[in-house]
Amino acid sequence: MKLGVCYYPEQWPEQFWAQDAREMRELGLRMVRIGEFAWSRIEPEPGRLEWDWLDRVFAILHAEKLHIVLGTPTATPPKWLVDRYPDMLAHDEHGRPRGFGSRRHYCFSSPAYREQAARITELLAQRYGQHPALSAWQTDNEYGCHGTVLSYSQAARTAFRRWLRLRYVTIQALNEAWGNVFWSQDYNDFEQIDPPVGTVTEANPAHRLDYQRFASDEVISFNRIQVEILRNKSPGRDILHNFMGFFTGFDHHRLSKDLDVASWDSYPLGATQNFFLNEKEKQLWAETGHPDVPAFHHDLYRGMCGGRWWVMEQQPGPVNWAHWNPAPAEGMVRLWTWQAFAHGAEVVSYFRWRQVPFAQEQMHAGLQRPDRIVDQGGLEAGQVDEDLRGLGPHALAENPKHHADVALVFDYQSIWMSDIQPQGADFNAMELCFRAYSALRQIGLNVDVVSPESDFTHYSMVVLPVQMRNDEALAAKLQSTGARLVFGPRSGSKSEDFHIPSQLPPGAFNVLTGVRVTRVSSWPPGITWAISLGGRLVAASRWREDIECDADDVVGRFQDGKPAIVEKGRCLYVAAWLESEGWMHVLLDASRKAGLDPHVLPEGLRLTRRGPLQYILNFSNSPMTYGPSTENAHCLLGSREVPPRGVSIWSLGQKASTTNN
Ligand code: GAL
Repeated sequence: MKLGVCYYPEQWPEQFWAQDAREMRELGLRMVRIGEFAWSRIEPEPGRLEWDWLDRVFAILHAEKLHIVLGTPTATPPKWLVDRYPDMLAHDEHGRPRGFGSRRHYCFSSPAYREQAARITELLAQRYGQHPALSAWQTDNEYGCHGTVLSYSQAARTAFRRWLRLRYVTIQALNEAWGNVFWSQDYNDFEQIDPPVGTVTEANPAHRLDYQRFASDEVISFNRIQVEILRNKSPGRDILHNFMGFFTGFDHHRLSKDLDVASWDSYPLGATQNFFLNEKEKQLWAETGHPDVPAFHHDLYRGMCGGRWWVMEQQPGPVNWAHWNPAPAEGMVRLWTWQAFAHGAEVVSYFRWRQVPFAQEQMHAGLQRPDRIVDQGGLEAGQVDEDLRGLGPHALAENPKHHADVALVFDYQSIWMSDIQPQGADFNAMELCFRAYSALRQIGLNVDVVSPESDFTHYSMVVLPVQMRNDEALAAKLQSTGARLVFGPRSGSKSEDFHIPSQLPPGAFNVLTGVRVTRVSSWPPGITWAISLGGRLVAASRWREDIECDADDVVGRFQDGKPAIVEKGRCLYVAAWLESEGWMHVLLDASRKAGLDPHVLPEGLRLTRRGPLQYILNFSNSPMTYGPSTENAHCLLGSREVPPRGVSIWSLGQKASTTNN
């Protein structure tokens, strides 16, 4: 468990650097990420390389025993490069090239830009690849940020046609797969196919899905160019990329196969304001962030790279980019850091060292204020360092790899399918996954968010909130486990080619669930139904399905008597969009039947187990009295009285439960 920070020495006078490095070390920071936006200062003109300043930065950080994460600067191609290779720009859906003057203006498919990205990566790797202070590489920065995965440039068009040719081989196969007999959409040649934009009404969903798949593959192959250079020129260093929150623009499971470490950028308050949470939640969690927003991503990214993951950028104070940017409540920077460690992070690195007084992000806090005085975030980072010292090396060695009891399946292609054809304006697949996840956390369960390709044998329960892609291999795999299975609405409702499966949804999952969906309805806001579930009523909205089933038991019925939740053997099928409380009750019951021991937690309290360690995290504004009930549990940090936005850590015996006492 190490702390780190993102640092931009090129943005500060050189006479600050040595003091900055000393203060970083004194604060307890060990890792420093640099360089990812510094291209114009490394190579101010074509071929004129200015290494001296960066050499000195390396020397200064090294002298303070700080470990360096060096970013390749390819998210910010400089002006001279854009002028030289104007075709490298990404194009928007109207065919307009993206302008220079912010970042991420390149097109992943541009051969010229791929060459330039390889060239600068190679130069950096040659210069610093063996430097003793260099511990890791970050490729680029936040692939896809600001909506930049999809580009409609000429380069993208050419690459898309090539991609289609490889996938389908013959144009007849493509016509068949896309259903091009519909509306006379047949093509005679791959060269006739354009990206799916500019059409009069919606483009063919299969065309759109393939464009999304293609664009995802372009990100992966772009990244791979850098990875291959770095592996070759800088062996022994970890290679990572910083992913984002609630971002599904490319298949992160596939891209991360090329990395050593998955990292992500955690901005809990920005995400709480900018994503799908409702008004009440946005207010309730304005200063703390919804507790499960970071946790969901920690558990998602832990599922990549064999469990090795970091938080590359941790929110240190107010940010600048959300609709509203409150300051975090006191204690939150420390609590977020502990939450990440609780979920298994190797490193938590804050963005950024100091608030910069100019340009786009001047309103974004850092660990220091612009006047070089330590800010609240810095104080709390220092507190975490003290916590870690207090725990000592023995306790830290106990933060082990850990399998949760519950797996939640997260499939990027299913999210794309749902986004392309939501059928109801508010059918948000990402939200559905999050709601199911959050319900599991509210009943105290630990969750691995995993890809459909995972091994499920060691899980007691597997939850598939929106496995929309009819994945026969997954169905077979699930069949051979003993786990309790919970399927959400729209499961198995689209084939790989974006057709309705011939046996009707849930396609291959029919064998497990005994369900056939004969009709679906989506409903505008304000319409809800009660589902009677185990003697209580829970609410559903947005979506409901008419099903035929040979289930053993109708667990929940809509108020009109039709089946809403059905059980067959160890499988549960939910034929509606459940509100949060409904998910909680369904999952309470299912997890008990799976032999787990769920408990509804007080609002804002979260428990996270890693091997023998039990973390108790209090996101609420009230103190909570909470601790393990086993005799041989001993407290490593904090106490049974967990203050608002506080944390306690316990070492448990082998088998222990945690109770409210
Ligand atoms: C991230 C990005 C950083 C910075 C930060 C601000 O998305 O990687 O460069 O812009 O957001 O919160």
